[in-house]
Amino acid sequence: MIRSPLMTVMTDAVMKASRSLKRDFGEVENLQVSRKGPGDFVSAADRKAEQILRDALEKARPGYGFVMEESGVVKGTDPNHRWHIDPLDGTTNFLHGLPQFAISVGLERDGQIVAGIIYDPVKDELFIAEKGKGAYLNNRRIRVAARTEMADAVVACGLPHIAKGDHGVFLKELSAVMGHVGGMRRFGAAALDLAYVACGRLDAYWERGLNSWDISAGMLLIREAGGYLSDADGGSDPLVTGTIACGNETLHRELLKLLKTAKR
Ligand code: IPD
Ligand code: CA
Ligand code: CA
Ligand code: CA
Repeated sequence: MIRSPLMTVMTDAVMKASRSLKRDFGEVENLQVSRKGPGDFVSAADRKAEQILRDALEKARPGYGFVMEESGVVKGTDPNHRWHIDPLDGTTNFLHGLPQFAISVGLERDGQIVAGIIYDPVKDELFIAEKGKGAYLNNRRIRVAARTEMADAVVACGLPHIAKGDHGVFLKELSAVMGHVGGMRRFGAAALDLAYVACGRLDAYWERGLNSWDISAGMLLIREAGGYLSDADGGSDPLVTGTIACGNETLHRELLKLLKTAKR
């Protein structure tokens, strides 16, 4: 697989930030952990990784805008391009020594996500996709799983934030789905949940209460891996609603049907 100049820029930035995360993993007492809200942690590890990504991407592509989890929106001089950056997806896992976290970077061009990268530094797994060029895990082409029976499927979900989420909706959705699937999982890093659907480790996934930095790269990975996605209510733009449901064509459709029954 030949990496494009854009993907080289993105990979270099992500690798640099990942070295910072690796140094900080397990050093929780030195990371100035604070809460943005109940159950919503942030630390020096998140902030350092974000700064590294921002500096590297700014240098390589001056003028592009940014949508960053920790530093917010920075308008660029180029109105057509902006990066969506989650410097540490799975902060709660990270701060508890749970090795399930990643960096996620998506590039939006003229309103469309055209490149995405998700890197898991612990497992050294690099997921990349460019629009129209397929999706890859460590240089090998990936595809969504082929299973078509919900009863065989392993389905992941997110849990609503302690303070923010609508627990009633979630519990109804969970009970609507769990009786029909082979297994349920909740890993705690949305970007990796999406990457795992793209490479067929997970058959389907849904979550509400997400942001563009959590899902932009993963959405492109899934599409480029032959998968289907929508928001959790079947609508066309997860980046607007911050909800997502995905899988292969059949299981995405079946998952939406089950989620709909939770509304009755
Ligand atoms: C969180 C993780 C988690 C998801 C939350 C996200 P963060 O991202 O992706 O799996 O359930 O909704 O906010 O805050 O660790 O980057
Ligand atoms: Ca966070
Ligand atoms: Ca996140
Ligand atoms: Ca984060």
